[in-house]
Amino acid sequence: MAINAPEGTYDMLPDRKLFWEQFKRAAQEVFGTYGYLPIETPVIERTELFVRGIGEATDVVSKEMYTAISGGNLAKLLNGEKLSSKSRLSLRPEGTAGTVRACVQHDLVPQGAPPAKLMYAGQMFRAERPQQGRQREFNQVGIECLGAEDPTIDAEGIIMLMRFFTSVGIPDDAMTLLVNSMGCEKCRPAYREAVLAHMRQHEEGLCDTCKERMKLNPLRAFDCKNEACAQIMDGAPKISDHLCDECAEHHAKVRGYLDLANVRYQEDPRLVRGLDYYTRTVFEVQVADSDKAQNAIGGGGRYDKLAEEIGGRPTPGFGFALGFERCADAIAKAGVELPTAQRCDLFVACVEDAARTDAFQLAQACRDAGLTCQMDHQHRSLKSQFKLADKLHARYVAVLGPDELAEGVANLRDMETHEEQRIALAEVPGALS
Ligand code: HAM
Repeated sequence: MAINAPEGTYDMLPDRKLFWEQFKRAAQEVFGTYGYLPIETPVIERTELFVRGIGEATDVVSKEMYTAISGGNLAKLLNGEKLSSKSRLSLRPEGTAGTVRACVQHDLVPQGAPPAKLMYAGQMFRAERPQQGRQREFNQVGIECLGAEDPTIDAEGIIMLMRFFTSVGIPDDAMTLLVNSMGCEKCRPAYREAVLAHMRQHEEGLCDTCKERMKLNPLRAFDCKNEACAQIMDGAPKISDHLCDECAEHHAKVRGYLDLANVRYQEDPRLVRGLDYYTRTVFEVQVADSDKAQNAIGGGGRYDKLAEEIGGRPTPGFGFALGFERCADAIAKAGVELPTAQRCDLFVACVEDAARTDAFQLAQACRDAGLTCQMDHQHRSLKSQFKLADKLHARYVAVLGPDELAEGVANLRDMETHEEQRIALAEVPGALS
């Protein structure tokens, strides 16, 4: 039986791959104007980085992480031996922890230095139940800014993301930007207690997962899709009423800058996000979709304690990531045509096999001149070669027949206007460049 790609993964066929490359270039262009520079970190990291960075109790770490075991280590495990923490590796479920690890490891934010502004693009892996818009291997573009606590960083990051979404064709009115503050280590513990007290009062009505969440991560109950839980959590205390003065001021300033830039947003006191590292600002961009579970095309926030959590010196941070596949769906839904197949400047057609060597040389000379050029390799009829040229969206077709060969020319047809001209073989590359 044929072996297909694993469930929840997909092959990026040429059209999609070309679009992905263009999408990344567009991101680099927009984020570059804010000073973001590219970084690439390994797809595989030590498991403890994610456990400490993202949080052991999060779904992403506790249920969805792919842990990689090399052959030798698998034998050890089967023998009942324990693996050293160095040998325990996981495929990255997201890009923030690895980027912050790289900043700490290479001291990218030395004392007194300007913030490190970094962007990345690549595959992430989460063992989720696959469905439309939710893959096990998916692609993110993300940014991380380390070394600045000022609310201008949060605001410019959010504005930059919204500008990018618009630039790739997602209509403004299709997107909803939700913002919230998660508070800090000073004000969040008391808030968490207040939410827990509320959940205890209504414990019988909660689903088993939310009852479990009460032990480790009660705030995650705000994300529960169960109708009864959602109703109970609607009545829970709001973080906005529990922020300390510094967090409230930070949040007000972020909102003020968004207003200045005329960015529309909704305050959502229940937005908690699924990763434990957030402090203060959190935000998410959603597109209208009937299935609530997968309508987030991007999200992020501030994480002022993450660098310390993984062994670095205190370094405030802010970032976001967007999901390429969900964005591509939103772009297609908006009716924007995704750029497809490669361009083709010239197709060289042979009337008879005798022209093959000249056709081969002409195609080569055109490529050397920087043109995209294809020729027949399958001895097709002339009619079928024209069909192929059409399929390739060729701008021109050069026909080499016995008469043309005798004269050292090609019959060049403009595929749009259907005009034809005879032109010396040596002059074809120059005429089309
Ligand atoms: P996240 O919200 O987990 O945040 O993921 C960001 C985006 O990745 C989501 O909004 C969604 O578009 C896409 N995404 C997530 N999971 C899947 C999946 N299974 N299939 C398809 N797309 C998916 C983060 O990853 C944080 N690291 C963002 C961040 C950066 N926060 C601070 N800096």
